[in-house]
Amino acid sequence: MKLVANVLFAAALVAGTANVAQAAGDAEAGKNKSAVCGACHGADGNSAIPNFPKLAGQVESYTIKQLKDMKSGDRQVPEMAGIVPGLSEQDMADLAAYYATQVSTKGAADPKLVERGQHLFRAGDADKGVTACAGCHGASGKGMAEAGFPALAGQHGAYLEAQLKAFRAAGREDHEGKRRTNDGEGKMMRATAARLSDDDIQALASYINGMY
Ligand code: HEC
Ligand code: HEC
Repeated sequence: MKLVANVLFAAALVAGTANVAQAAGDAEAGKNKSAVCGACHGADGNSAIPNFPKLAGQVESYTIKQLKDMKSGDRQVPEMAGIVPGLSEQDMADLAAYYATQVSTKGAADPKLVERGQHLFRAGDADKGVTACAGCHGASGKGMAEAGFPALAGQHGAYLEAQLKAFRAAGREDHEGKRRTNDGEGKMMRATAARLSDDDIQALASYINGMY
């Protein structure tokens, strides 16, 4: 029960920050502005290359937050360093509105990893202290729009693995490898990922890629 209370409290915190003075996004305008993004993320937000995340179907406020975090330096994406400084808040809102209207393409899970991945996703691992992903990302991995929690279903496995390892590295305060720290003061992802093994991460990434 304490866990549920924490999750709800964290959700309220994220929702609070996500709603601050946000310009309303125009999906049509966003489509026109997305040409430069398509080279890496695909014209409809379904990228062909697994290191480039799919943006199609993503929670709007989450996409805006990532772009803002990149602009402020809270999230480092060297591949986008030449583009993000030129985006206004209106551009970010329009782009996020456009991608939210697109539909994510399906992936495929490795059948050997499904059982473990699904168990971790739905139930977590009480012995290790891993919180169930479904509690924040939704039972079918579509995210929670009100809270700004991202959709994960169908995302590329390679991208998911890289993000989980980056949150883990930051959560464990490792000094090697890429670190991701933009999950807020509550460290929701750093705290969760810090307890995952490489095998756990591989199983989760594969399972989530196959979710739709
Ligand atoms: C040269 C390739 C490239 C271009 C062009 C590009 N991106 Fe990206 N983008 C990336 C990569 C690579 C990442 C993931 C980096 C990482 O591993 O953290 C990313 C991540 C993102 C994310 C975070 C996704 C998530 O699930 O957290 C968003 C949002 C995003 N890009 C939006 C855009 C938008 C909008 C544009 C156009 C204005 C754009 N990108 C242009 C390469 C690109
Ligand atoms: C307490 C809530 C919470 C739990 C539990 C949680 N997450 Fe998250 N997760 C978040 C939030 C919030 C973010 C977005 C952080 C940000 O703003 O950058 C996120 C981001 C992510 C991302 C990055 C998405 C992207 O597109 O870059 C991945 C991958 C992820 N979570 C996977 C998982 C997995 C796998 C689990 C279970 C082992 C899990 N999460 C458990 C709240 C949670």
